[in-house]
Amino acid sequence: MADKAATLTYDNKSIDLPVLAGSVGPDVIDIRKLYGQTGAFTYDPGYKSTASCESALTYIDGDEGVLLHRGYPIGQLAEHSSFMEVSYLLLNGELPSKDELDDFTYTISRHTMLHEQLATFYRGFRRDAHPMAIMCGVVGALSAFYHDSTDISDPEQRKIASHRLIAKMPTIAAMAFKYSVGQPFLYPDNSLSYTGNFLRMTFGVPAEPYEVVPAVERAMDRIFILHADHEQNASTSTVRLAGSSGANPFACIAAGIACLWGPAHGGANEAALNMLREIGTPDKIPHYIERAKDKNDPFRLMGFGHRVYKNYDPRATVMQKTVREVFDALKVNDPLFETALRLEELALKDDYFIEKKLFPNVDFYSGVILSAIGFPTTMFTALFALARTVGWVAQWNEMISDPGQVIGRPRQLYTGPTERDYVPVDKR
Ligand code: SDX
Repeated sequence: MADKAATLTYDNKSIDLPVLAGSVGPDVIDIRKLYGQTGAFTYDPGYKSTASCESALTYIDGDEGVLLHRGYPIGQLAEHSSFMEVSYLLLNGELPSKDELDDFTYTISRHTMLHEQLATFYRGFRRDAHPMAIMCGVVGALSAFYHDSTDISDPEQRKIASHRLIAKMPTIAAMAFKYSVGQPFLYPDNSLSYTGNFLRMTFGVPAEPYEVVPAVERAMDRIFILHADHEQNASTSTVRLAGSSGANPFACIAAGIACLWGPAHGGANEAALNMLREIGTPDKIPHYIERAKDKNDPFRLMGFGHRVYKNYDPRATVMQKTVREVFDALKVNDPLFETALRLEELALKDDYFIEKKLFPNVDFYSGVILSAIGFPTTMFTALFALARTVGWVAQWNEMISDPGQVIGRPRQLYTGPTERDYVPVDKR
């Protein structure tokens, strides 16, 4: 309910707009009646000042570097929870009891297999297809297989589709990797954890048993937690907009995958490691920092900066700590980690980055870990999509269940030609 109002004076008229308050965070000025009362639109390309929806899933305070999922700080969830438990929390709103978690995990594990025909679908791609191209195609193609869970008006079908998407993403991502390296697909092994199953499907081979390394399984599971959901980011907004038309959940998630692929968004983890490889050794860092500051140079520090965080991304803090755990567990050491640490140190001392409040984000360190575990850079964004699926699905369910939900249809500021008559070609 609104207990405050904002007064707008326009065209010699004043109108009062209701101000709505959330449980925490900025108020919103409700402009739903603005066009009807003034004949004017608001203008906010990039939606930097726009709340597109009401949500109870995830709260971010960008100035303080706070990220809460259903009220629980990301640092505590990363430390104490599991990806399955965080998935349950995002979908249901509360932490599960042990029985609830066991039931949820069992349900997810029973949806991990793909329809066998989809294995044939993979064979239509070139072997060097980018895994995100395959993910877009295969996830969209799920709509062609699961007709019993595409009626979005049926809560039971929505639940089944949600479980299928969460459960099948590891299988789909692992198969994309196997296809790219010419190795046979491995079926899921449901005696393993969600994350252990994914690691085995990705790195195991039929010729020998695969041992899940507990420290790697823990690190991977934590990386999935860090990527699970993040308020109304570009790909989540894409999923919500696609879902607002009534499109089936598989098509909506495929749209989210396509949006996530961009280097300004989820594609930044792949771009950040490629950038660290291009920089190479710490002595080259000053040159690249100068390039990032040069307006005439399109180069940016990938994994740095964020639309919302004007402080350290709390996920990057956890990610940096996880690097050492994985290095110790695998007895590896990648000098690029030292380059990343030095780059962060120098950038955070530079006035350009200080003034623009540019800090490392979730993508800055993730690539160093994923590379140490054995993933090629082309798989990094596919892993982001795997983890973000539960956030997309939770946000999609929240939107569909909202009684006030309508199709999203923004307007524009038109600056093209005004009406004019057609001129026949022999008169031009
Ligand atoms: C994700 O939204 C989410 O929540 C996304 C995400 C999630 O979990 O869903 O957190 C995941 O996408 C993280 C962000 C990953 N992207 C990158 O790391 C790519 C590099 N970062 C930038 O492209 C940029 O910071 C964005 C896209 C992330 C944010 O861009 P904004 O909010 O539109 O800010 P901006 O581009 O207007 O930048 C503000 C200023 C600009 O300078 P001026 O025009 O004001 O002079 O800062 C500069 C930018 O040029 N700037 C950078 C920079 N990022 C911003 N300069 C150098 N290096 C950078 N990385």
